Parts: sequence; structure tokens; C-alpha cells
Amino acid sequence: MRLNTLLSTLTRWSRAALLLGATALLTGCDLNFWKMDGHQSTMVVNGPVARSQLSVFYVTCWVTFVIFIIVGSVLAYTTLKFQARSADDEHAEPPEQGHGNPLIELGLIGASVMALVVIAIPTLKAIWFTYDVPVEEKANAYEVTATGSQWWFRFEYPAEQVAGSGALTTSNELVIPAGRPVRINLRAADVIHSFWIPKLAGKVDMIPNRGNFLWLKADEPGYFWGQCAEYCGDSHAVMRFRVIALGPREFNDWVTRQMGSARTVAATSEAKAQFASYRTDWKRNEKGYSEKFELNPLDAWRAHQEPEKHEDAALIAKGRELFQSKTCFSCHVVRGHMVGGSSAYPDLTHVGARTTIAAGLLENNPEQLSRWITHPDQVKPGNKMYVNGYLANNIKLSADDVTALVAYLSSLK
Ligand code: CUA
Repeated sequence: MRLNTLLSTLTRWSRAALLLGATALLTGCDLNFWKMDGHQSTMVVNGPVARSQLSVFYVTCWVTFVIFIIVGSVLAYTTLKFQARSADDEHAEPPEQGHGNPLIELGLIGASVMALVVIAIPTLKAIWFTYDVPVEEKANAYEVTATGSQWWFRFEYPAEQVAGSGALTTSNELVIPAGRPVRINLRAADVIHSFWIPKLAGKVDMIPNRGNFLWLKADEPGYFWGQCAEYCGDSHAVMRFRVIALGPREFNDWVTRQMGSARTVAATSEAKAQFASYRTDWKRNEKGYSEKFELNPLDAWRAHQEPEKHEDAALIAKGRELFQSKTCFSCHVVRGHMVGGSSAYPDLTHVGARTTIAAGLLENNPEQLSRWITHPDQVKPGNKMYVNGYLANNIKLSADDVTALVAYLSSLK
């Protein structure tokens, strides 16, 4: 085949491939892709720490863009100017070669150093800024301790801050006051994890036997997605959490509710039987939340703070009994309902008031709750609720047991 024919065939094929690729890309992406405002976007941010990190990204992009334009232009210019135009050109002697030009060499070194300095100044400023709460805001800072465990997060609010008799402990959903700096002490219970809320701040490692910390501030009330960002074992990818930022009054109300013991449901004449059979044919990686929840998660969170309209007190009481008889309480704390539990496992005192379960992976609704307590191995491989093919402590649950346990856990607002 002649060179020309080969080239034109190649050009045609590569054009077709490019068109096909672009079409596939376009059909696969929704508008959100172009807005770059996904749940874990670092491009559309909601707080000063993430904003300063984003500005470093832009500075680096602009500097490299300028370098790309300069190098690309020189390359294009020389390629076009010195290309062989005839058979004679192809066999011509190469022009006289240069052997170093101190001015050009020093100039290029100087330009490279300048480019690095331009990147280094905002980078160092941002590192300084993200390291700790700025001095002028320190007095106003709220403090929370976050502990990473395989594969969930525990959040503790110091007693002096929540004006209660003891520290307030919750799991997987960090509720913070909006517009106020929050300093987070980062701890790890087992291996190294990393704390990251892309729209607010991060990532900083949580290292066993070492006290790291970061700070963040949410500009306004909102609902944010968090993710462990350091490989920490089987279920690292599904070690998530949520951050809910609330206005001052709403935040105080939340603290007051959380400080209280677990809720007990009294029998009412309005009660309706909640017996329902839940799906059992769950598949690995099946989506765990509904579209409605994704559209407005903050409203979903607010709705979760209210008890269900028609609660079946008898069923809930049966669930509470099962929680004890099936030994769930030997790992999980339900403050005020039974003595037991350990800080090594998620605190369930107010689990019904969370929007998610299984460390931010599934929406907290009866269906997903039943999925989680019957198929924890599928949702989060390697987790401690499932040992050698059985629920921990060799717990066996009938369909009715599951219904009652789900009703009980959902009532814990
Ligand atoms: Cu924890 Cu990755």
C-alpha cells in the first residue's frame, strides 16, 4: 500500500473513532457532569477550606496551561517551518548544529524556577490556612472528634460543649453548625483511614496512635457527602459518611434531641400494624437509595427527625425485646433502653433519625434497613456484623423478627 493511501485510511478511521467516542461520552453523561457539581465534587465547593484548595488547583492549571501554550507554539512553529517540502529537502545536509547557548539555558532555568515559585506561594498559603482554624475565628470554633474504624465513622461532641452530663456520640452522620468553624480531631481505631468531605475540606489521614486534625466551615445549611480516602481494607470504597450543616437554632434542637435517651413508643389507638415482608433477593452493589432522597437530602434529613405517623407500639416492643434476646445489644449502644454495647461499634440510640445506614451507603428506610441486617456481607464485605457466613454471635432471624427489629430501629428518633 502506498504511504498516502495508508495515511488517508488511518485518518478516516481515527475520525470515525473520535466521533463514536464523543457520542458515547455525551450520551453517558448527564448535565451534572458539565456543571461538575456531583455529590463529591471538588469543583463546586461550599466552604472556605475547600475553596482555598480549589484555588491552588486553578493556579496550577493556569501555570501549566501557559507552559503548554509556549512549548506547543514553539513545537508547532519549528515543525511547520523546517518540514521537508521536496525530495531534495529530505536528503539535504542538516544545518549547522548549536552546542549550547548560556543565555537560553539560564533563561529556561530562570523561567522554570519562576513557574514553581508562582505555584509555591499560593500552595504554602493554602497549607497554612487549611492547617488550623484562623486565629480570629478560634474563639468561635466548635470541636468534634471523628474516629475511623473498619468501615464506619464515630463522631463525639465534648461534654462541655453540648452542656450535658456526658459526651454526645453518634455515627456516620456528622451534624455541624453552619457558618461556624468546626475543628475536627481525627483518630483511628484500627488501621489508617482518611477523612474527606470534597465540598468542605480534606483529606487528612486518621492514623492509629497519632492525633491529626483539620478544620472546615459550611457557608450555609446543607447536606454533604464524605468518603474515606485511604485504602483501609475490603470495604474501603464503601466507607462513607454524611455531613449535615444546620442553622444555629436547628443545630441546638438536634443536640438536645441527641442528648436524650432512646425514644420509647407508647401504644396509641391510631396504631396500624406495620407487618410487611421485605425483599430478600438483594444483589451486590444494588443501588441503596431513591431518586427522591438524592434530589433533596436535607429535607429528607429533616423528615427523619420526626416520628412516623402510624407506629405499631406492640411491634416496636417486640423488636426491642429481640434486640436484647438476639444479643444485638452486646455490641450496639441504645442509651436508656438496655445496658451493654461498646464504643467499638456504631451507637444506635438515635439511629432512626439518620438519613443513611451502613456508613452512608444505604438510605435509612425499612426496606434498606432489612437489607442491611440480613445481608451485611453483601453490602459491606468483611464487616464485623457478619462472621464465617453467619450474622455475628450466630444470630438467626426469621422474617417476622426482621420486621420487628426494623420497626424498633426506625422508631429510635
Ligand atoms: Cu477507611 Cu478507607
